[in-house]
Amino acid sequence: MHNQSLLIAQSPPLEGTAELTGAKNAVLVIMASLILTKGKSILSNVPFSSDVRNVMTLLQNLGAEVKYAPDLQTLCVDTSPINDWRVNHEMMKRMRASILVMGPLLARFGQAEIALPGGCVIGSRPIDLHLRNFVKMGVRIIESGDTLSASVTRFNAKKIILDYPSVGATENIMMLATCAPGTTKIINAALEPEVLDLIKVLKKMGAHIQVVAPATIEIEGVKELKPIEHAIINDRLEAGALLLATAITGGNIVLPQAPAFAMDVFLQKLQQMGHKVEVGDNDVGVTLRATKDPKAVSFKTGPHPQFPTDLQAPMMAAQCVADGTSVIEETVFENRLMHVRELQKMGAEVKVIHDQKVVVTGVEQLYGTSVIASDIRASCALMLAGLVAQGTTIMTGVHHWQRGYDALEKKLKILGAQVKMVDGQNFSVQDKRLFFGYESSVKD
Ligand code: EPZ
Repeated sequence: MHNQSLLIAQSPPLEGTAELTGAKNAVLVIMASLILTKGKSILSNVPFSSDVRNVMTLLQNLGAEVKYAPDLQTLCVDTSPINDWRVNHEMMKRMRASILVMGPLLARFGQAEIALPGGCVIGSRPIDLHLRNFVKMGVRIIESGDTLSASVTRFNAKKIILDYPSVGATENIMMLATCAPGTTKIINAALEPEVLDLIKVLKKMGAHIQVVAPATIEIEGVKELKPIEHAIINDRLEAGALLLATAITGGNIVLPQAPAFAMDVFLQKLQQMGHKVEVGDNDVGVTLRATKDPKAVSFKTGPHPQFPTDLQAPMMAAQCVADGTSVIEETVFENRLMHVRELQKMGAEVKVIHDQKVVVTGVEQLYGTSVIASDIRASCALMLAGLVAQGTTIMTGVHHWQRGYDALEKKLKILGAQVKMVDGQNFSVQDKRLFFGYESSVKD
């Protein structure tokens, strides 16, 4: 996987209808939550991305039996055999979202041992909000080297006040609180759609949870939680990628399952660019008819329901070829502008004001070249730029793409995009044979 590249060539307007897969940022934490139960659970609409495969391995390492049916996109997990509460270093390094098993392991075993998750390019990704509030709930945490050993004997259900509505901290604390006697309140909780999908799952398991305005989650601890069946919420970030691929190429697309109810600010920004956006009944489903003369819009990311940080890079790519100037501010992560350098290599005019704010001035044309993806959403931005850039763009760092999306390049190709995952990284951009048909080493 690390020796592959995503080739993107200038593409015609994308046209058609596309299905969505389940949200990565819901399925990972929901898989972790299964540790709270003993028995067989079934998850459907599960993307087969590398992050999902990593959590499958993590659960198997703890003793669970895990089976995935690719044709049904269904995951069966039997958590009865789980008999370990330690997550090995290699797994934590591979995927920082492994921290999300800490709450469930503490709830099930009264202990957990994990390696400190690494940061990543978008930020140091601290876990202080997780740990500080676990301690407040009665958890003892001993740090030795980069291993954290946590244990809890007596819970004190508490009023947890989050300094920042952290998605992971909200999820971890909530999962532990489902089994803590008494009522735990999480104030200033994250209420992203993926967090709400987790709440749906926990309530199916038998947890007593309610969401109270403003941004408070109340959890009343119960003795036991049961296995469940659940269809993962469709991925608003995959929907955003497909809508932007259509917008940037001036096409038309129908996404019948798009969770429009979770995308209001983003969809409004597309409309402000001049694209025609229609939402289906009950706020499910989106149709987009792109304008050929998009206007640049400004936006600032923030916790839900503000503009999602995970669509910042892809939306920036669309501003690079829109008419006018766009001021973009990233407020969630401290270093999530790594794609700017790569977009500039393609001819984009992006002025960095400071490390969380840029001004984009739309240009007539971008130019294909070799670019490096620094994180999942940067890989999406570079794909989008490649769809309109003259010539061919060769993107490496595709393991990020494969972590966050389930073969999205195949969906894009069906819509008319000139995009292919190919083996190898050292070939000339001009060598179009690789791309236009002599497919000796081109994987479809
Ligand atoms: C989740 O990450 C998502 N990942 C991210 O998606 C998403 O960008 C992020 O939420 C924000 O929506 C998964 O759900 C697996 P946070 P998470 O805790 O939980 C700081 C993608 O591309 N913070 O809400 O790690 C943190 O440094 C990924 O799909 C602390 O300071 O995000 C960041 O600046 C990227 N201390 C801010 O809060 C803590 O203890 C938001 O982080 C925890 C977080």
